[in-house]
This record gives sequence, C-alpha cells and structure tokens, in this order.
Amino acid sequence: MTMSYYTLGNSGLRVSRLALGTMTFGTEWGWGADRDTARAMFDAYVEAGGNFFDTADLYTGGTAETWLGEFVAERGLRDKAVIATKFTMNSNPGNPNAGGNGRKNIMRAVDASLKRLGTDYIDLYLMHIWDRLTPAEEVLRTLDDLVRAGKIRHIGLSDVPAWYAGRAQAIAELRGYEPISALQLEYSLAERAIEHEFVPFGTRHGAGIMVWSPLASGLLSGKYRPAQAGNAGRLDGFRNTTHPGFQKFSEHNWAVVAELEKVAAELGRGMAQVALNWVATQPGVATVILGATRLSQLQDNLAALDFSIPPALRQRLDKVSGTPAPFPHSYFGPEIQVRVAGGVVTGDKPSGYALPVVVEGEAVAISSN
Ligand SMILES: NC(=O)c1ccc[n+]([C@@H]2O[C@H](COP(=O)([O-])OP(=O)(O)OC[C@H]3O[C@@H](n4cnc5c(N)ncnc54)[C@H](OP(=O)(O)O)[C@@H]3O)[C@@H](O)[C@H]2O)c1
Repeated sequence: MTMSYYTLGNSGLRVSRLALGTMTFGTEWGWGADRDTARAMFDAYVEAGGNFFDTADLYTGGTAETWLGEFVAERGLRDKAVIATKFTMNSNPGNPNAGGNGRKNIMRAVDASLKRLGTDYIDLYLMHIWDRLTPAEEVLRTLDDLVRAGKIRHIGLSDVPAWYAGRAQAIAELRGYEPISALQLEYSLAERAIEHEFVPFGTRHGAGIMVWSPLASGLLSGKYRPAQAGNAGRLDGFRNTTHPGFQKFSEHNWAVVAELEKVAAELGRGMAQVALNWVATQPGVATVILGATRLSQLQDNLAALDFSIPPALRQRLDKVSGTPAPFPHSYFGPEIQVRVAGGVVTGDKPSGYALPVVVEGEAVAISSN
C-alpha cells in the first residue's frame, strides 16, 4: 500500500489519511494489547508509511502515552511523527481541578503528557470532551499561550457541541489566537450524526475531521451477530452497561452490518476494509484513526485505502446507514430552497468556491405558495 497525506484543516501540517489510535495500548481497561503487540502494531503502521499517532493523557491510565513516547524514541522518529494527545479527564480523584478544561488543568495536563511522552512538544493538542462549564475564551487563550510557549504546535477539539466549535473558531479568528485545525469525532456507517453540523463547519472553517471508532468498536468488522452473545471482542464487555460509546447493538446497525456484508462480498474485500474506506472518503474527513488489539487486525485495516467503492455500491451503503435529517436540517432541502430563490434554479456559487454539502433528496416541483 502507499500511504497518502492531507494537510490537517487549514494548517500546513501533513498527516497520513490513516492514523494510529493508541487507546488499545495497554491492558488496564481489560480490552487492550500488551506491550509487544502494541510495539508490533506501531512498527507495522510506521512501515506502511503512517506518521500520525493519536493518544490521550489518561488512555489506559497513562500507559498509552508512555509506550507511544518510548516507541517513537526507540525508532528515532520524533521529528517524523505527528503526535496528537488530549486533556480533560481527571487524573486525581477528589481534586476537581485535576480534570476539566480550565486553565489550571490544561497547564497541569500538558506538562504531565510531555513527561509521559518523553518529548518537549506536542504536534496537536486537543480538548478531549466539553466540560459544559469552561468558557471557550479561557480554553482558546490557554492553548494559544501553549503554542507561543512552544509546548504545542496545533490545536483541536474532540467531542464538543457544534455551536461550541463554531464559537471557538470565531473567537480564535477574531482575537488572533491559534485556530482549530482538527475536530475529533465519532463517525462510521453506524454513527452519521456529525454530517449535519460538523462536516459543513469543518469544511468551511478549516477544521479537518479526525474520525474515531470508524468500525463502531469492531461491530462493522462483522464479527458480532444479532443472535449471538459471545466473546467476539470489546463490545461484549459492554453489553450490560450504559456507556454511551459502546451501545452498538440496534436494529438499525444490524441492517447496516447485513448490507455491508453483501457489499464487501461483491467487492471481494473484508467488511472492516470497506467500512474504513467508506468513512475515509466522506466529505470533510482528514484522517481515520485505526484501532486494533491484534497485529492481524491492523494489517487488515491498513489496506483499507487500496481500492475504491464504485458509486452504485456506495449508494447502497449510504442508503442503509442514513437516517432522516433532524430539524432544522430537514428544512434546508430543495423544496424550501426553491422558495428561498423565488423559483429561480441557480448554482449557488461560481465554480472554485467550496459549496455546502448537498442535502440528499429527490428533485421537487416548484411550489407556488
Ligand atoms: N476522542 C475520543 O473521544 C475518542 C474515543 C474513542 C476512540 N478515540 C481514538 O480513536 C481510536 C480508534 O477508536 P476505536 O478503537 O474505537 O476504533 P474502531 O475501529 O471502531 O474499533 C477498533 C476495535 O475493533 C476491533 N477491530 C479492529 N479492526 C478489526 C478487524 N480488522 N477485524 C476484527 N475486529 C477488528 C478491535 O477490538 P476487539 O479486538 O476488542 O474486537 C479494535 O480494538 C482510538 O485508539 C483513539 O485513539 C477517540
């Protein structure tokens, strides 16, 4: 395979279209990989041409950052590697300021990450999850200070409401702070909610989407089945929990899995490869973060961009995985637009401009009232 690269958002940072996730580096959470396996996956990824590594301060209690830093150093790759890590989660129960998005925690967290990673700078520093409290001004100003101090190079947001991301980017632009170059969000054939707000925001305002859980935690590899409560992988451990990241067994998702299986068979490819290819080639996606607990899984996934999905097969995947647009997006389709434009059918902009993502729908007759 040949790894290709995109620049992340509006930045000049070149990242491979497949990133390596490290949430599975370490067994502390009960479903990760041991050190030798993690190292073998790191090596395979580097040898495939990958340069983009995603981690977070408290993945596997800090083991993920520590191992990533060690692997990068052992191979002498610090200059080549693009390392993304995150803050927000609390590192010290009982101390509310050892978590969250306030300045005190960000300043503590960045130094702790630099220490575990064994480096003096982070390429992309992301807010992990919205804490519902800290004003965007405080977060942006603190991150801008860290860029100027040389501790971080670029900034991003993960798991935030779209209005917050829009406000944060506007603050950055108007105040001359470091802009948001990346949005890290869940996206897959089993979770397409980001298409309504985040994809148009990211493509218009310079934030590249970093996809997490592109296989819906393994569901889209096809190894889970509706009638089977077995021992296939990570999701089995969450069957009786309410953790929001791992509730994947639904009628809708089983229909997606069934159609994906047929499409993959027609393509002569594995289901995981087809699911990864689909999401990597969706509008706005800068990079897809691969997750794996075994070397064989990662090798399988690294071949996901070696083919293309023909339009007819893609349409079948789009159709089975799509859900009706929620309000107000249900109001932006052609039926309303012809009324906005007074019945005149126009291309919205001269060619060369980024156009809004097209709202799917049938052509409609011009209505007169
Ligand atoms: N910002 C955030 O909030 C956030 C949240 C989650 C993840 N992330 C990032 O995104 C990365 C990827 O997320 P993810 O691990 O959830 O991705 P994923 O691709 O949805 O799931 C990966 C899991 O699926 C299974 N799998 C992967 N490839 C397979 C294959 N070819 N065949 C069969 N099973 C396969 C493995 O689990 P089993 O072996 O257990 O089945 C693997 O650990 C993480 O490492 C992390 O860096 C970020």
